[in-house]
Amino acid sequence: MREGKKADVLLGLQWGDEGKGKIVDVFTPHYKMVARFQGGPNAGHTLEFEEKKYILHSIPSGIFHRGCLNVVGSGVVIDPVIFSREIDQLGLPVDELQQSLFICRKAHLILPSHRMLDLVLEWQKGNAKIGSTLKGIGPAYTDKIARTGLRLADAATEGFNEKYQRLKQEHLRLAKSLGFETAELQIEGMGFDAYEQAWFGGLQRIRTLPQVNSEVFVNEALDKGARVLAEGAQGTLLDIDFGSYPYVTSSNTITAGACVGLGLAPSRIGEVFGVFKAYCTRVGSGPFPTELFDEQGERLREEGKEYGSTTGRPRRCGWLDLPSLRYAVMINGVSRLIMTKADVLNQMESIKVCVAYESGGERIEMLPSGADPSGMSPVYREMKGWMSELKDAGIVEDLPVELQDYLELIEDFLGVRIDIISTGPDRNQILFRKGTGVVNRV
Ligand code: GDP
Ligand code: IMO
Ligand code: MG
Repeated sequence: MREGKKADVLLGLQWGDEGKGKIVDVFTPHYKMVARFQGGPNAGHTLEFEEKKYILHSIPSGIFHRGCLNVVGSGVVIDPVIFSREIDQLGLPVDELQQSLFICRKAHLILPSHRMLDLVLEWQKGNAKIGSTLKGIGPAYTDKIARTGLRLADAATEGFNEKYQRLKQEHLRLAKSLGFETAELQIEGMGFDAYEQAWFGGLQRIRTLPQVNSEVFVNEALDKGARVLAEGAQGTLLDIDFGSYPYVTSSNTITAGACVGLGLAPSRIGEVFGVFKAYCTRVGSGPFPTELFDEQGERLREEGKEYGSTTGRPRRCGWLDLPSLRYAVMINGVSRLIMTKADVLNQMESIKVCVAYESGGERIEMLPSGADPSGMSPVYREMKGWMSELKDAGIVEDLPVELQDYLELIEDFLGVRIDIISTGPDRNQILFRKGTGVVNRV
């Protein structure tokens, strides 16, 4: 058995936007390293502290804590334009970044023509569109799997420009066959050529950051006894294999994704922190059994400020769905639960929770495989709301009794304890269960 520590994993249990970024930021003082393992700029992780708000897309959410090593793992896909813009927005001194931000050489690059293809392929799907963030994620991972992609390390090799041109021409040929020319497209408000220019500029810039082999970097840190937190993007129900395919993203968002995207052996995984919202949201298309189309859904959207961090799109809102959470807990091996946005329900007189699906007289208590409960209707338990403001800090045991009942129902159903509750967007708005912390479990 190898000595050293195990890496903890923190990931989303729903359709993304569970508040992962905020929780990683809260946890970071207890870790030496925070490592993103998949996804790319489709993610939007919001951090709030000292009355400032930051939205991170590709950079790990430990970046604002001095001394923390932030790693962009081999499983992540990088758009140099977005990445370098993000670096600027951090407002951190260059020498500090040189010591705190590390990118894996194996990370694949999202080319401007990947973004173009994302647009074209979504357009082609018509009503069956996925609702992609259009950041080029699908096409970039497609090339990775097809063994035709370009990695960050390739940028330092001699034939890079030719390889880039060859791949781009392939993409343009495909786009043209579907009736599109580059001249027609705008990416991030720029024409294709301008975006390409910004892309090469961004690539030069990110190449000045320290490059590592993330599997070696992370495992060696663990060997030396460092605490490592693997940060997931998106959510379990958007997983390429276990989400509601095809309405998913193009990577493994689950615990196993941390093994693949960072080169961690399964035996090196420690705690798995599963983050979920006190209700559900989803951006983009695909099944959503507890979605609300009425005034109540509107209320959740407004109270929860449910508009996409990456695209600004209104998020679809609905009640908490326990059968799908049970599925997510199973797939990820969740050891500790974290519930966010409890405060959004503060003024709800009554709150519904889906405790099963019903189909032809049959009661189903776990999301069916394929994450698509079409033809099934949710069975709700109605609970009394707590109708009061929540404390920003302290212990979970001090929360109103109605909220404690809500937690108990969830814990009994899932068989995992909720150790941490988030009561607002700020890093100080966090409650722990008595006797537990980030590190110690009783
Ligand atoms: P992520 O993608 O999982 O990191 O989540 P996002 O940042 O996309 O979305 C979560 C949103 O909820 C952000 O605007 C956060 O600032 C905010 N947020 C996080 N935790 C809480 C909470 O406990 N209460 C409230 N009201 N907002 C929260
Ligand atoms: P974070 O990390 C919520 C959704 C998109 C779309 C589908 C595919 O902030 O939780 P893609 O751009 O990957 O081709 O989109 O996945 N999606 C997210 N939804 N949060 C995210 O990330 C998401 N990343 C992708 O809306 O439905
Ligand atoms: Mg988000």
